[in-house]
Amino acid sequence: MDQQAIIRTTSEYVREKFSGESSGHDWWHMRRVWNNALYIAKQEKADQFIVSLAALLHDIGDHKFHGGDESVGPSLAWKWLRQFDMKADIIQQICDIIAHVSFKGAAQVTPMRTIEGKVVQDADRLDAIGAMGIARVFAYAGFKGHELHIPGKQPELHTTFEQYKNGKNTAINHFYEKLLLLKDRMHTVTGKKMAAERHRFMEQYLARFYQEWEGNA
Ligand code: ADP
Ligand code: NI
Repeated sequence: MDQQAIIRTTSEYVREKFSGESSGHDWWHMRRVWNNALYIAKQEKADQFIVSLAALLHDIGDHKFHGGDESVGPSLAWKWLRQFDMKADIIQQICDIIAHVSFKGAAQVTPMRTIEGKVVQDADRLDAIGAMGIARVFAYAGFKGHELHIPGKQPELHTTFEQYKNGKNTAINHFYEKLLLLKDRMHTVTGKKMAAERHRFMEQYLARFYQEWEGNA
């Protein structure tokens, strides 16, 4: 199977596995991350094969749906990819990206060794900010039964992954706990530029939200 066929087969597998999912991790999230990642990869001259497969499979074993177990993603990806005629070293690079891609709270560093990893992490983060990010925050909060907003309730800057994972804060507080922190954590020049625009849009949105909340707009 050539590289294009491996990517196509993988996208069909991911599409089937994630279609209809409503917590913000549906197939369309994978497709947007894949598109963002390909766009950034072209500008940054990263390997498009590795980037495509890592983007498509990045949430395959999300810890949130596996009792907090972070080893599920890389091991599912490994099992899927090993059926193809691919060098073990390439599969390993993809699994390393999947192991490190996730945001783990304000004080947790999530290092990325390779340019391909940086591209995929930027692409995933872009989908958590801007118009898409706003849509996903509210979808996720609804899914978890969290409230939209509680005036005066302070955001928490989580110092451990445990705290972040188990947080029960409002949708609006999640902007301060994650979304507004992402622009300064982007790796690539292209990703930074895109994030700056999406960040501005969220700031405008929040200003408007507070105005309408108080009946001032
Ligand atoms: P990613 O796909 O970037 O790894 P996550 O798995 O952390 O993102 O979360 C999926 C989506 O749900 C993201 O858009 C994220 O901002 C949102 N989300 C995660 N945790 C919360 C929360 N506690 N409240 C509201 N939205 C959340
Ligand atoms: Ni994701």
